[in-house]
Amino acid sequence: MKKLIIAIDGPSGVGKSTLSKVLSHELGYLNLDTGAMYRCVALAASRQGIDAGDYDALRQLCDEIVIEFARNKGEELVLLNGENVSAEIRSPEISLLTSAVAACPAVRQSMVARQRELGAGGGVVLEGRDIGTVVFPHADVKFFLKASAEVRGQRRFLELQAKGVAVDLARTVAEVEARDAADTNRTTSPLRQAADAVVIDTTELGIAQVMERMFSVIADHQQS
Ligand code: DC
Repeated sequence: MKKLIIAIDGPSGVGKSTLSKVLSHELGYLNLDTGAMYRCVALAASRQGIDAGDYDALRQLCDEIVIEFARNKGEELVLLNGENVSAEIRSPEISLLTSAVAACPAVRQSMVARQRELGAGGGVVLEGRDIGTVVFPHADVKFFLKASAEVRGQRRFLELQAKGVAVDLARTVAEVEARDAADTNRTTSPLRQAADAVVIDTTELGIAQVMERMFSVIADHQQS
């Protein structure tokens, strides 16, 4: 069967991570969480005291850091220079810093090159903001997921709460909105729906219902 390149784009909290994990698992594909890569850059910058506006330092940082994905007992891990940073990159502080760092053209150039290299052979699900528009504009299947900011904020709130992070619902919704604005309004590769993407509004849909729709679209492409 044809090994597809599947792009899943959309704003934060829309369900991309959960859906791409399930999809890649079911298909036996590689799962590439591109947001985790930008989060690693933000964490490395924060640790080295690099300002998000210092584009030269960020460019150099990207040349130096090693970002890897690994699996341990079914759990997907993100490694920064060999260290497991999977939990640390999800803190609210790093989330906000990531939006700023991801606006740096040199950072995007470096991450996009890495993503193209990892996904070129197909058999991959990539989730992010610019996969169907910039990273793989000729991806075999493109999904664009959306949902109301309230629902997305609430999902993020429950996710963080389950991990034992002390969070406030109103603040989480506000942070989701702030990140949306930053991701949508930046000049380099803003969050944008590809013209040929299949749009799914997940506001009132459960994971199983969204999966069903995605699998039916994918099945059509596998046969073509
Ligand atoms: O998907 P996420 O919440 O882990 O993404 C973290 C941040 O990285 C978010 O602010 C958007 C940015 N990002 C991006 O600019 N391009 C991508 N392909 C993926 C994420």
